[in-house]
Amino acid sequence: MADRYLSFTGTAPGRFLTRRLGLPQPAELRRDALDGGLLHLTAGKSDLDPAPVLARTGLARDEDDGRPAAVVLDATGVRDIDSLAEVHAALHPVVRSVAASGRVVVLGAPLDAGNHHQAAVQQALEGFTRSLGKEIGRGRTVNLVRLTDAAPAESTLRFLLSPASAYVSGQVIEVGAEAQGAGPDDWTLPLAGRTALVTGAARGIGAAVAETLAGQGAHVVVLDVPQAEDAARRAAERLGGTALALDITAADAGERIAAALPGGLDVLVHNAGITRDRRLVNMPADRWSSVLDVNLASVLRTTDALLAAGAVNRGGRIVATASIAGLAGNAGQTNYGASKAGIVGLVRSLAPSALAGHGVTVNAVAPGFIETKMTAAVPLFIREAGRRMNSLTQGGLPADVAETTAWLAHPASGAVNGQVVRVCGQSLLGA
Ligand SMILES: NC(=O)c1ccc[n+]([C@@H]2O[C@H](COP(=O)([O-])OP(=O)(O)OC[C@H]3O[C@@H](n4cnc5c(N)ncnc54)[C@H](O)[C@@H]3O)[C@@H](O)[C@H]2O)c1
Repeated sequence: MADRYLSFTGTAPGRFLTRRLGLPQPAELRRDALDGGLLHLTAGKSDLDPAPVLARTGLARDEDDGRPAAVVLDATGVRDIDSLAEVHAALHPVVRSVAASGRVVVLGAPLDAGNHHQAAVQQALEGFTRSLGKEIGRGRTVNLVRLTDAAPAESTLRFLLSPASAYVSGQVIEVGAEAQGAGPDDWTLPLAGRTALVTGAARGIGAAVAETLAGQGAHVVVLDVPQAEDAARRAAERLGGTALALDITAADAGERIAAALPGGLDVLVHNAGITRDRRLVNMPADRWSSVLDVNLASVLRTTDALLAAGAVNRGGRIVATASIAGLAGNAGQTNYGASKAGIVGLVRSLAPSALAGHGVTVNAVAPGFIETKMTAAVPLFIREAGRRMNSLTQGGLPADVAETTAWLAHPASGAVNGQVVRVCGQSLLGA
C-alpha cells in the first residue's frame, strides 16, 4: 500500500536516478506546519480588506521578499484586461520564491453577468489558477476563492493557508456573503459539544474523518456494517465516541440513526462507499445495483429520513463523498461514476433549499487517488498511474480528505454551501 516510489525519490540516489531518467519527482508534502510567512498582494482596485482575517491565520507577514510559505493575491478588483495584467505583474516576481509545500491563494470576485469584461477576466483567473497549479511543483498548491467579504471566508482561508489542505490544489471555491453565525470561540476545538456521524468509519477515509472530527472536539458516531462492528467499536472507544453497527442500505437506516441520536446530529458525513468495477458490457445488474444502492440511494434515503425526523440540528453540516470518477468518468466504473455524479447532483440541489434557512450546509468532497485498502486493491499499473497523474505526482492520504471534511463541517463554514471540493492533488482526470 505504501508509495515506495515516493520513499525512493526522497533518497539521494533515488533523486539522482529518477532525475536522470526524467521520471516524476514527487515532493514530500508538509502536513505539520508551513515553513515561512505570508505575502499579501493585490491586483486591480480591491474593495476587500482581507488583512485582519489573514492576520489570524497564524502565518506571520512576510515583510522581506524572502521565502514566503504562502502568497495571497487579492484579485477581486480585476475587472478588465489591464487589471488582469496586474495578476502577472504581482506573481511573476515572487512565485519562484514560494517555499516548498507552500500555498498560493488567489481571491476572485463572483462573475458579474451584466459586465462581460469583468466576467471574462474573473473567469480567466480559473484558467490561471489551474495552470499555475500544474506547473508550480515542489508540493506547492494553488487555489482560487471567490468571495465578496473576507469575514465569512475565514475558515476557508485558514484551511487553504494551512497544512490541512496539503492535497487540495487547482480548486475554485465559492464563499457566500453571509457569515451565518459567529465563528467558534476556540479555533482548536471548533466542534466541541457537537455530534458527528460518519458512515463507513471503521476503516480507510471514514476512520480518518472520525478521528479528525473527534480531535476537533466532536462526539463521533462510528457507523459501519455489522461485519465491521469490532473495528467500529475499537475506533469509537479510542475516540471517546459511539459505535453504530448498521448497514446503511437498510430501508430504515435513517430512522434507526435518528432513534439512536435523540439529541440530533450536527455533522453528517456520508462516506460509506463501494466499488464493483466492470466495463458495462460485462457488468451484471447486481454489480450495478449494489454500487448505486450503497453510494447513492442510501445517501438519498438516509438524508431524507434524517431531515424528516428533524434529526439534523440547526447550523448542521452535511458532507457527502463524491469522487473524481464521478466528475471525469472512469473506464470500468459506469456504476461508480454514476453513483458519485449523483452525489454532486444531490449536493447542488439540496444546498440552496430550505435547509439553508436553518444554517444547514450541504457540500461534497471528491477524493482523487487516496492511499486506502480500496486503492490498494487496484492492479499495480493502474495504481501507479493513479498516484502519479496529478500535479503533486503522488496519492493523497485519508487524513487529507478528513481535514477537508473538517473544514466543511466547521461551525464557521456556514457561507460555504453547495461546493464540490476535490481532494485530488489536481488530478489530470477531469480538469
Ligand atoms: N480511496 C480512494 O482513493 C477514494 C477515491 C474517491 C472516492 N472515495 C470514496 O471515499 C469513501 C471511502 O473510501 P475508502 O477508500 O475509505 O473505502 P474503504 O473500502 O476502505 O472503506 C469503506 C467503508 O465503508 C463501509 N461500508 C461499505 N458499505 C457499507 C454499508 N452498506 N453500510 C455501512 N458501511 C458500509 C465499509 O465497511 C468500510 O469500512 C467511499 O465513498 C469511496 O467511494 C475513495
